[in-house]
Amino acid sequence: GIDISKLRAETGYVTLDRGFKNTGATTSAITYLDGEKGVLRYRGYAIEELASKSSFVEVIYLLIYGHLPSHDELETFRWTVRRHTLVHEDMKKFFDGFPSKSHPMGQLSALVGALSAFYPESLNPNATDEEENLTIIKMLAKMPTIVSWIYKKSLGHPIVYPSNNLDYVTNFINMTFGQRTEDIDINPVAVSAMNTLLILHADHEQNCSTSTVRIVGSSNANLFASISAGISALWGPLHGGANQAVIEMLEKIKDDGGDCDKWINKAKDKNDPFRLMGFGHRVYKNFDPRAKIIKKACDEVLDKLGIDDPVLEIAKKLEAAALNDQYFVDRKLYPNVDFYSGIIYRALGFPTEMFTVLFALGRLPGWIAQWKEMRTNKEPIGRPRQIYTGETERSYVDISNR
Ligand code: ACO
Repeated sequence: GIDISKLRAETGYVTLDRGFKNTGATTSAITYLDGEKGVLRYRGYAIEELASKSSFVEVIYLLIYGHLPSHDELETFRWTVRRHTLVHEDMKKFFDGFPSKSHPMGQLSALVGALSAFYPESLNPNATDEEENLTIIKMLAKMPTIVSWIYKKSLGHPIVYPSNNLDYVTNFINMTFGQRTEDIDINPVAVSAMNTLLILHADHEQNCSTSTVRIVGSSNANLFASISAGISALWGPLHGGANQAVIEMLEKIKDDGGDCDKWINKAKDKNDPFRLMGFGHRVYKNFDPRAKIIKKACDEVLDKLGIDDPVLEIAKKLEAAALNDQYFVDRKLYPNVDFYSGIIYRALGFPTEMFTVLFALGRLPGWIAQWKEMRTNKEPIGRPRQIYTGETERSYVDISNR
């Protein structure tokens, strides 16, 4: 019912693209994505190759600094990060104030935002490259420690301090599932699965949370505040929160007798708000290449851990039913990265509410790389326009006459 020509006459020419479906917000040299062909590359390297040959810490370096590190560069980077894994002790007082049942994502965004209060040198928008890099290192180093605090709190267990002898992912697994800083019993299957999952989540160009990080950072807000905003954007069930929603959906289908066709029909019904969680993507109109890798990893991890999860069977049945259904075929709806990731997280022992936090841990280097690129390119403040559709002009009426 909107009269576009009248609006143009009143507001001038403004591009209207709700949800930015076809509007480029920036140029970027970080991640290449071809949604039609199902291609994803970080800095030119195929996701399939990185997932099978690289480590998460190497991918962090690649995304942020633009090239695969030499042996020496990687060692220096590892040691620099390890020196900053401790989180200011006073942050614990703040952390202790959260109710034990509060959602991990709410805790995470608050704790990351609070880092700016404990490390105020991060506030300087005119920091030198070296100072800016130190803030980046601190963000990377403290995130796994904070995530493990949140997990331990959910169990009511004491936290485990970081170890300088363990690499990034092993240290995280130890702080999360271990009992002491130098635990000897770290499960290599868990470390390898986490490396794969974190690599697959590390960047995905201008998605909702990354665009949030860039737009917040474009006002010269500090890195911690920008990442905290990205975490909030990721929380929503239409974005990263989908990994939690998928498991909850699969559980519901299982408890309901496992009739996948019934749930497929529910997802197709336009009068029903239910959507098949973990299906569909704004950009991929072919298989999400990350979902292919995760599906395979899921079978392998469950096999190695000797876990038989009935929810995996439901997921496979649901996927097969959807891929054979004209509704999903016509709309090019395929499983996305979230469809199988939760089953792996669950097999590793993570509670459902932690899934999106793990996504955030993986996406962190992407957010940082995008924030850094935006600053390096001296991008202007992000400030979209609108097309005004409200009242044009009205005279104020005194309250006694209303
Ligand atoms: N189940 C049922 N129908 C769907 C689904 C779904 N999961 N996804 C899209 N559709 C339908 C829509 O109803 C619409 O149908 P219509 O043309 O008949 O109206 C059509 O497919 C296009 O969908 P849009 O919502 O317009 O697509 P958009 O690009 O805006 O949304 C999104 C993409 C949000 C991912 C959507 O597919 C969705 O809600 N999926 C479920 C949630 C999810 O898995 N999110 C994770 C995304 S990946 C990530 O963030 C890591």
